[in-house]
Amino acid sequence: MVKINFFPNNLEIQSQKIILRLDLNVPIKDKIILDDTRIVLCLPFIKKLIEKKAKIIIISHLGRPRGIKDPNLSLMPIYKYLKKTLQTNVYFFMGNIDHEVKNKFSYLKEGEVILIENIRYFEEETDNDEKFSKILASLGDIYINDAFSCSHRKQSSIHKITKFIDKSFAGPLLKKEIDAINLVIKNKKEPVTCIIGGSKISTKINVISNLIKKVNNLVIVGAMANNFFLYKNFNVGKSLVEDNTKELIEKIYEEAKKNNCEITIPEDCVVSTTFEGEGKDKNLDQIENSDIILDIGVNTIKKIKYIIDISNTVLWNGPAGYFENKNFLKGTISIAENISKNTIDKSLVSVLGGGDTLAAINKSKNKLSFSHLSTAGGAFLEYLEGKDLPGLSVLK
Ligand code: 3PG
Repeated sequence: MVKINFFPNNLEIQSQKIILRLDLNVPIKDKIILDDTRIVLCLPFIKKLIEKKAKIIIISHLGRPRGIKDPNLSLMPIYKYLKKTLQTNVYFFMGNIDHEVKNKFSYLKEGEVILIENIRYFEEETDNDEKFSKILASLGDIYINDAFSCSHRKQSSIHKITKFIDKSFAGPLLKKEIDAINLVIKNKKEPVTCIIGGSKISTKINVISNLIKKVNNLVIVGAMANNFFLYKNFNVGKSLVEDNTKELIEKIYEEAKKNNCEITIPEDCVVSTTFEGEGKDKNLDQIENSDIILDIGVNTIKKIKYIIDISNTVLWNGPAGYFENKNFLKGTISIAENISKNTIDKSLVSVLGGGDTLAAINKSKNKLSFSHLSTAGGAFLEYLEGKDLPGLSVLK
């Protein structure tokens, strides 16, 4: 197996310009960072580069602005956070990424940091555009990808940038993530249960067909489950759904049967007519046209707890409900607390991943314990599938 090129600790980097791709995609509302877990995890390496007197150019995305400069998706709050936290000069670059840009970075001194505004404000980023990647690469001497959670994306600052820069490495956080996940894959004890939720349906629904071959139980929660309700001819009201998934779900059930994988979907839920509203418990056959499904119901929680209790390995990505409103947090927290309890009491191997999952479980009032907490959601699932992630293959 070809090995990933990890950043060597002894590399002389004083005065070198380092392009550091991080995942600072954290939940932000009204310019306030709601959960800083992903930033906190990146800090030790940034501090190390500062200590070693490198010139650090940080790239990250926030959300999916698709080439539009949406002010709600600005990295400004993250810039302010870094400026307050790091003991050095931190700058924010909001200009264009064009042939002139290199000169605009020439003021950066040793041990200083510049954060580039949301890289997805440029559609060339998501297009993995050749010219754009070359300009990005021209900003530095060394490229480091420390964003495992973005490494499933074939995008400029993750993928094609490496074509135009001599030295490309994976950072320590990325290493820690894949070491931990590799360990779980190697040592996983059956029954293995995978819980998939969250709202990024399109990323994950294709992953399910492959995961079926690797796990004994697959539990579908969150907005993902709405597609399964539709498939079973339940009304889902105004809930979030993905178009044309019936055939795919049909295939998922066929594959599950072939591979002896038990699929569990919610049997009851909590609904409201608005995201800000109060919750109302309903069975699946009671959903009205004005309802939005926003959490799993009590019977479903009971059933998932039982599945966790009889599992020896649990992999989980994506909240069970709209956790941003506390009225719909119960499903996610109940799952988290039961996984944690089994991890402590019965040596359950548990790996949790994804920005939203981290943000949601941080809302628990109790201290929770898991075998590994991953920053990655989609990347984590694709890695589990055994896929060669584009952002990792270019670092081999
Ligand atoms: C994530 O939150 O999983 C990463 O930041 C990747 O985001 P994306 O799914 O928008 O590429």
